[in-house]
Amino acid sequence: MLVTGKEILDHAHKNGYAVGAFNFVNMEMLQAILSAAEEEKAPVFVQTSEGALSYAGVGMLSAMVHQLASEVSVPVALHLDHGGSFETAVKCIRNGWSSVMIDGSHHPLEGNIEVSRRVVDVAHASGVSVEAELGRLGGIEDNICVDEKDAMYTNPAEAKQFVTESGVDYLAIAIGTAHGKYKGVPKLDFDRLSTIKQDLNMPLVLHGASGVDEESIKKAVSLGINKINIDTELRCAYTDRLRAYLAEDTEVYDLRKYIGPSREDVKAKVIEKIRLFGSNGKA
Ligand code: G3H
Ligand code: 13P
Ligand code: ZN
Repeated sequence: MLVTGKEILDHAHKNGYAVGAFNFVNMEMLQAILSAAEEEKAPVFVQTSEGALSYAGVGMLSAMVHQLASEVSVPVALHLDHGGSFETAVKCIRNGWSSVMIDGSHHPLEGNIEVSRRVVDVAHASGVSVEAELGRLGGIEDNICVDEKDAMYTNPAEAKQFVTESGVDYLAIAIGTAHGKYKGVPKLDFDRLSTIKQDLNMPLVLHGASGVDEESIKKAVSLGINKINIDTELRCAYTDRLRAYLAEDTEVYDLRKYIGPSREDVKAKVIEKIRLFGSNGKA
């Protein structure tokens, strides 16, 4: 059943667990995620980047999610991931997304507040929830110095001002994760997370969670992370199985034979993450 992101995350925030937010670009990925969530009785976010919107089309993605979400009993939020502009956010709001992220994190604070506030005004008038980001993720390597951290990571005082003035429903924070495959071992700034959670007392989002060790994820959840974004590990699960299948069977040309196993592996990975985040049985 399709619900707003806020409905899912308010419950996670009050009850101290995190919900998986999984990126998808095609039918098989979406089926894998929703089938895993249904089996685990877990609320879930399915999310589309701007790249996914142009790859598959806004109408196609919306129709697929509305259809498949109506076939499961667990709460599902259709979320725009890293919306780069007011216009993209509005396009998704008009096309049935129930949650949008406006990523103004590359702007100075005032600009980020301004674009986020504009999206909040339109989204809330349509009953759609909003995520924004403060601080910068990115190619974070092992030995980042304290001054660099302070410049990149979310500043707790700014975070308070940001949510008060923008009115967003949940906030993505930068505490040491990066998108894609890590070169070093990510080390999260848990003190910063604790401070932000205490000051804001609202749902918080962790991006770039693929490749972060299980203990760090559990600790981040215990300290107040409520939405965890996973893309890279699902892409790898899909692609690794596809490569292995095609290497073993060089004659196959029926798509269903070689995509089906990838779908199974993505589902298994989603189940693993749902259990790690503690959202199993929460629907
Ligand atoms: O945060 C970024 C997501 O992994 C989406 O990546 O823009 O390649 O679809 P993408
Ligand atoms: P990963 O690809 O590192 O899992 O990051 C996902 C993400 O943050 C999507 O917004
Ligand atoms: Zn992200």
